Amino acid sequence: MYSTPIWHPCSQMKDYESFTPLSIQSASKSYLTLQTGEKLIDAISSWWCKSLGHNHPKIKQAIITQLDSLEHTILANTTNQIIEALTESLCDITKMDKVLFASDGSCAVEIAMKMSIQARVIRGQSDKCKFIALQNAYHGETAATLSVSDLGLYKNAYQSLLFDCEYIPDIPYVTGEGDPLWHDAEKEWLQAQSFLNQHRQMLNAIIIEPIVQGAGGMLVYSQDFIKRLGLWCKENDVYLIADEIMTGIGRTGKMLALEHADIQADFICLSKGLTSGVLPLSVTLTHESIYEIFYDDYETYKAFMHSHTHSGNTLASACALSVLEIFQKENTLEYVQQTLHPTMLQNMHDISHNTKLLHNIRSIGGIIAADIKSPKFTRSGYRVFQQAVKLGALLRPLGNTIYWMPPLNTEVHTLNELAKITEKALLAY
Ligand SMILES: Cc1ncc(COP(=O)(O)O)c(C=O)c1O
Repeated sequence: MYSTPIWHPCSQMKDYESFTPLSIQSASKSYLTLQTGEKLIDAISSWWCKSLGHNHPKIKQAIITQLDSLEHTILANTTNQIIEALTESLCDITKMDKVLFASDGSCAVEIAMKMSIQARVIRGQSDKCKFIALQNAYHGETAATLSVSDLGLYKNAYQSLLFDCEYIPDIPYVTGEGDPLWHDAEKEWLQAQSFLNQHRQMLNAIIIEPIVQGAGGMLVYSQDFIKRLGLWCKENDVYLIADEIMTGIGRTGKMLALEHADIQADFICLSKGLTSGVLPLSVTLTHESIYEIFYDDYETYKAFMHSHTHSGNTLASACALSVLEIFQKENTLEYVQQTLHPTMLQNMHDISHNTKLLHNIRSIGGIIAADIKSPKFTRSGYRVFQQAVKLGALLRPLGNTIYWMPPLNTEVHTLNELAKITEKALLAY
């Protein structure tokens, strides 16, 4: 039996008997260095959060500077210039008015869910309490966020803790922005609309991962579908929660994935790339109109009483502020659109052509994925992961889906090196 006091996340610990954890000594840009001195390309941005790579000097400096004056204080009854500046920047970027702070993605989503429910209670609509999500959705691992996730692997054991949620079927998945369905998903929408109409009466909110479903298999779907969904929500007094934990802060080539569809949500959740994964921070943003519902004398018990000890950690906020500045100064979005995306796309198509082992390539911005064709083993993706580690890349496929989601500023030579490793790993698995 492999025995260690560390119980690793999202892992069957028995797997570690034959593949022990990689002992990391340091990390810089898009590379991890192991204790052995070997280097690995961080092809998945360490669970999708290292938007600007590891050890960015400007982020480091921002934290060191902040460390000299204020690390963290309770955010109830206090404020500070750092959190005020970050709040202003986030409202600017998202066109929202109010920001609630937490520490991880699941909590930010749960805040949006709780806030939408409480808004209904205050509005005298307690029976409007249902959630609808999309087929293959993933929104986190707390009980509420698992309840609106559609992935049995993560939720089946906890059914007794969870509440019911309906899932919109037949999502119009696309290969990318050039796919005809990206611009016109009327047929799929009409089907979804009749499904939604059946549930409208009791429906509180629809929750989506805009444009790309991450844990569900890096599935890109139609912007036209989201646009129509957003309109339907407005027309039917249904809240729209945009879970941008993975897609937000530039991952799809725009600051928010919602921008592809040019719609407004009632709640937006951000985390991961917000601090470039340096410190834990998440936010839930909403509008003035929602804020006003809760605003009253204390005795009316309308206050939103949710809190976390580390809400609005000042060091993490200074870190996020520097990330947003770097995006501006280093033209990160332009780099994603003009260099990162086309290079990854070309490389993935080349691998597919050379190996004949991939199909269903889909991509947008700094995300590209493909499925292993006729997998030889149940866990072919896991075998490719093991081969890739030996060759110099941390890939960690989702089932039999291979994907790259490297830091958004990954250099072209690194992307090309990653492509060679991926090709060899596929041929060797
Ligand atoms: C879309 C989405 N929502 C929520 C989460 C949960 O975030 P966290 O792992 O920080 O709790 C994730 C994590 O991968 C995610 O991809």
